[in-house]
Amino acid sequence: MAGFRIIGSGRYLPGEPYTNDMLSRVLDTSDEWIYKRTGIRQRHYCPEGQGPSDLAVPAARNAIEDAGIEPSSIDFILFNTMTPDYLLPGSGAEFAAKLGIPGVPALDMRQQCAAFVYSFQIASAMLTSGAAKRILIVGSEAHAGYMPWHEWDVLDGKTDKPQSQEDRERATRHRGFCIIFGDGAGALLLEATSEGDAGLLSAELHSDGSQIEQLRIPAGFKERPFINQKVVDEERMFLFMNGKEVFKHAISKVPQAVRAACKKASVSLDDIDWFVAHQANDRINIAIRERMKLAPAKVPSNIKNYGNTSGGTIPILMDEMRRDGRMKAGQLICVFALGAGMHWGAVIIRL
Ligand code: COA
Repeated sequence: MAGFRIIGSGRYLPGEPYTNDMLSRVLDTSDEWIYKRTGIRQRHYCPEGQGPSDLAVPAARNAIEDAGIEPSSIDFILFNTMTPDYLLPGSGAEFAAKLGIPGVPALDMRQQCAAFVYSFQIASAMLTSGAAKRILIVGSEAHAGYMPWHEWDVLDGKTDKPQSQEDRERATRHRGFCIIFGDGAGALLLEATSEGDAGLLSAELHSDGSQIEQLRIPAGFKERPFINQKVVDEERMFLFMNGKEVFKHAISKVPQAVRAACKKASVSLDDIDWFVAHQANDRINIAIRERMKLAPAKVPSNIKNYGNTSGGTIPILMDEMRRDGRMKAGQLICVFALGAGMHWGAVIIRL
């Protein structure tokens, strides 16, 4: 049967972590509030002047080294990010050039936190049809660019000057979203195979634009000019997130997608070795797990260390699990995610 194997993985988290206590230097919050509501203790931020194409390079190099292949043998790239280096073009081509393989086709995926489940379906279709032999899927984010405080020196503890009241008030107004997100990159290398039964067994993907207002940056090309003072005055360059609605959507729609994907693949929930969940908020994944009566040990979590790295969470978690020996060839995994758009879904993969 034609399918694919995962032959390499890698991850990269920039710099030293920023703890919840450090965030309280620039906004009104606490470690207790953040940890209790989200399960997050710390996150990383991309240095100023770098973007997702930069963070993705060391992650991809790790994956290439892990697989023991030549970068020139990669014949397609799927680049997942919701925080691109530029508003246009997407970051994939720039990333490929920085990786040293300019010319390789690179497709930019805009499904935000759900991009990886979409990428698995596209990669599978390309690898089983013969359109590609080796695909590099990358998820990389630089959310630091839309963090609502501007006085980074205060956060970094590099100044004796107190934070301005204006900066603290702005950051506190947006504290509901900003404490969740962190930066980082993960990469997976997929190779076509005609041996064994490894590959995608099923995909259950959905998009619903009627829910767009729950999670978006409400600035864009409808305006003339598209960057204007009104956007800044109305603070529409930040993420608007209706946390409660996103939460409700995730815990109702994701279990439906997981069950449907299992049905399509003719496998039961008990057959799955690992449920690899997008790491948006630990409370979402605990609620999904409890609704579906999944064993806690089968739904691994690493959000405590990284926060929500959007497109990066799934490959970062899979890389950790492959490297520490938990995730092995032959196992059956279910990957699920929900992201802005809204997009969501689940895929079943035989490793
Ligand atoms: N620190 C301290 N207090 C905070 C805070 C923070 N970072 N953020 C919000 N609060 C306060 C609010 O001001 C509010 O105070 P009030 O009751 O005095 O008005 C109170 O905490 C409750 O706020 P609310 O926004 O209702 O909290 P919540 O219980 O809905 O939790 C989220 C907020 C964001 C943690 C939660 O809704 C969530 O995680 N949703 C899912 C979001 C998600 O997964 N997004 C990514 C999708 S890919």
